[in-house]
Amino acid sequence: ADSYPFHGAHQAGILTPAPGGKQPFSCLAAFDVTGASKADLIALMKTLTERARYLTSGGAPADLGVGQPPADSDVLGPDVPADGLTVTLGVGASLFDDRFGLTAHKPAKLKPMTIFPNDSPEAAWMHGDLSLQLCANHPDTIHHAIRDLAKHTRGAMQPRWKIEGYNSPPRPSGTPRNLLGFKDGTANPTGGLASDLVWSAAGEPAWAQGGTYQVIRLIRMLVEFWDRVSISEQENMFGRRRDSGAPLDGNNENDNPNFAADPQGNVIPLTSHIRLANPRTAQTSDQRLIRRSYNYDLGLDQNGDIQAGHIFLAYNQDLERQFETVQKRLVGEPLIDYVQPFGGGYFYVLPGVANASDWYASKLL
Ligand code: HEM
Repeated sequence: ADSYPFHGAHQAGILTPAPGGKQPFSCLAAFDVTGASKADLIALMKTLTERARYLTSGGAPADLGVGQPPADSDVLGPDVPADGLTVTLGVGASLFDDRFGLTAHKPAKLKPMTIFPNDSPEAAWMHGDLSLQLCANHPDTIHHAIRDLAKHTRGAMQPRWKIEGYNSPPRPSGTPRNLLGFKDGTANPTGGLASDLVWSAAGEPAWAQGGTYQVIRLIRMLVEFWDRVSISEQENMFGRRRDSGAPLDGNNENDNPNFAADPQGNVIPLTSHIRLANPRTAQTSDQRLIRRSYNYDLGLDQNGDIQAGHIFLAYNQDLERQFETVQKRLVGEPLIDYVQPFGGGYFYVLPGVANASDWYASKLL
């Protein structure tokens, strides 16, 4: 689709299909709210709503009249296309400190992102009062949208960090590949199962119904090291074939691995990423996540090494039961010699904007 509905019970960009080359470009950014009062925050939320509603549906910008700076940058030409843009807004734990009197209304599980044992945290790339996820069909659409949103919110929020992402079309088929060369996103829950795992659970404040927890993990990939690893070692780290994406006990990408038939891990190692991430037991079925990750590329580091990796993006209804449980099982997995998480954050994606007179966080504020 070239345009996704803006209004609804849930925000777009979460269960909106990304694998297979749809919305191949993205931007993840975090902001801090600079306004001092709740009234300032309400005004900010209304402005963000109005801009996101316009940008995701497209159309001619307003005519502000002679002598004014133009309403639009014209980066996308005079008639702004929707171009598959989704805008997904989240709030971080820091928004619920005492600045805006919201402490009592914090989502039940929201907290600053946990630092895990293999992390190399860089403060400049972490946390934030707000998260914005933009996804679209072209990179100029992403640029245009973030520029428009920043322009209209000047003085009300300031950027903290920002990173652009991209993903691939199916090559040669199936799910897009990540920068380690493996198909990524294969075992994502879909349909009713995805909805059951992602949207707010009992125990959340009433205003939060229809939202979800967003996990952003910026994970550097040491691609030069990775390219020196043999194919069988690479495949054992994931538990899947690099060419087809099939589990090591199967033939096709969508074959379901049978861990129970291989209790010693002779075929799919016990330490493989898929086995640790999803052991496929009755007790672990409610720990599954919705992933919607992108690649990033930041050019070169100071040593001339490629600075690229993975914008790990996951959604879940309970950060502890789902993301943190899975992440803790992955601590020490063989893959960590080749990847380095350095940033990101936990955010609560606000419920959807219901209709043309509603706005983000209206039930919270
Ligand atoms: C599966 C790559 C980090 C959770 C996979 C697969 C790949 C992959 C190639 C197999 C294909 C698929 O089902 O999508 C990576 C890379 C990472 C990374 C390159 C870091 C750079 C993480 C993290 C988590 C995670 C941080 C969560 C804490 C999962 C889950 C699955 C999975 C839940 C599905 C397992 C299944 O149901 O079979 N990942 N992953 N991954 N990954 Fe990751």
